[in-house]
Parts: sequence; C-alpha cells; structure tokens
Amino acid sequence: MTPDTSAPSSPKIVIRGLTKSFGSKKVLQGLDLDVPAGRSLVVIGGSGTGKSVLIKCILGLLTADSGSIKVDGIEVVGASRETMDALRTKFGMLFQGAALFDSLPVWENVAFGLLATRRIDRREARERAVRTLAMVGLGPEVADLMPAELSGGMQKRVGLARAIAHEPEILFFDEPTTGLDPIMADVINDLIVRCVRQLGATALSITHDMQSVRKIADRVAMLHGGRIVWEGPVEQIDDSGNPFVDQFIHGRAEGPIRVGEGSIQS
Ligand SMILES: Nc1ncnc2c1ncn2[C@@H]1O[C@H](COP(=O)(O)OP(=O)(O)O)[C@@H](O)[C@H]1O
Ligand SMILES: [Mg+2]
Repeated sequence: MTPDTSAPSSPKIVIRGLTKSFGSKKVLQGLDLDVPAGRSLVVIGGSGTGKSVLIKCILGLLTADSGSIKVDGIEVVGASRETMDALRTKFGMLFQGAALFDSLPVWENVAFGLLATRRIDRREARERAVRTLAMVGLGPEVADLMPAELSGGMQKRVGLARAIAHEPEILFFDEPTTGLDPIMADVINDLIVRCVRQLGATALSITHDMQSVRKIADRVAMLHGGRIVWEGPVEQIDDSGNPFVDQFIHGRAEGPIRVGEGSIQS
C-alpha cells in the first residue's frame, strides 16, 4: 500500500508476551507483534483464534492477563482510565458488521466521536460528517437517513466514515469485508487503502478474507495457537515457507492447522 514496504519504520504498537484466557480457554499465549508506523498490517488466522480478542486488548476493551502492549511507548496493559481515554483519541475503529447506532441518523453516527470528545457544535459536526461521508463516496443526501434505510455496503461505508472522522493516527479494521458481496468487498478494500493513505495512518486489520489481505496489507502476520507464527511483507505470502500460512492461504483442510483448534472456515 505504501511505495516502499521494505523500508524500516519505527513501530507504532509493540506487543510482547501477551496472554489472555477465558476461564480454562487459553486464547492468546505469549503473542509478540510489532505494528510499524504508517504501514498497513493485517493479522490473518482461522475463526476463533483470537484475532478480535487481540484488537480488543489493544483498544482496552478487554484486559490482558499478562504481557505488554505499548502504543507510542505508552503501556496499555494495566493503564488507568485517563491514559486509555487519551490513547483512544488516536484510535479509529471499524467493527465487524459496522455496528452503527440504530437510533441516530447517519451524520450523528459519523460525528459521534467528535461530538462526544471535542468542543464542536452540532452544525460544525454535521459539516465535518458530510465531508467525511464524501471521502467514502457517499453524498450529502445520505447524512439524514437512518442506518436501517441503508444497504449493507452503505452501512460499511458509514462505519468507515465514523472510524476516520476524527483523523485518527491508528485505524483498526475487524473483518471489514465480512457479509459483503465480492464487488462491494472490493469497493470497501479500495476505500480502506485510500483513507489510510490519505490520513497517513497506521492500520491494523484482521481478516480471514485473502482477497482483502492482498489488497490492503503491506505486511501480514499469521495468528495460530495464541502466537504469531509468521510475519512478513505481503509480497512474500505465497512463498513464506511456513506451513501454517500455506495451508491458510490455500484454504486446505490438510495441514498443520487442525480444524477445531483454529478452523480455516469462517
Ligand atoms: N468475552 C469473551 N468471553 C469468553 N470467551 C471469549 C470472549 N471473547 C472471545 N472469547 C473466545 O475467545 C476465542 C477467540 O475469539 P475471537 O478473538 O473473537 O476469534 P476470531 O479470531 O474469530 O476473531 C473464541 O474461542 C471465543 O469464544
Ligand atoms: Mg473476530
């Protein structure tokens, strides 16, 4: 996505030894990962391997059991509420299924973060929302519609607009193309690439959609068994030499990934 993905870039997010269990179920088991600044990193892995849990730990929506997550050098694990609130202003997030507020019109969904955290009046917020909607290819007529009046693809666009409206430094995308037809998925992938580039943001996405990976990733990391088992530039994904990556990208039932402990199906 960026012109020279081999150039070194200081990490924006540094994760070391991250663990998270739910009862006896160990999900993350000592995960290490660097997210380079200004790059787009995509974490791949089967359903239930802990991709969403990883993002939620970074966002502070879940508390890790042990290990460290540093964002711009600031520790997230065990951070105070004030620290997390300050960090969250850097974050933009597109959740799986867009997760819009049903009772608010489109523009208020887009401007939600702006209205909540900044001293900005409603008129200004609405103008900002309309400008942001234009970035995702939606006209001003959409601003006053309710989410229920939108198609799935339009809801995703609105979700993307909401994620970028406050010009975040780091964007998180959780399965951005799930539930979309292949053409709409491609449109959303293109928009993600364009928005991330336009903002100069760092992007961390998770997906099991290989089309999406090839389109939006500069670098790819494969999550399996609670750890990152391979990480490298997207250009190397077809000859990674890693049997987990090979099995995953070819969607084969046979291989080191046993169905049930990290299924390759969605
Ligand atoms: N809040 C929670 N409470 C209990 N178990 C959870 C919770 N969130 C996730 N899990 C479990 O953690 C595992 C990983 O989930 P998740 O990160 O959502 O997977 P995916 O890689 O598909 O995004 C799953 O087995 C899931 O059931
Ligand atoms: Mg998930």
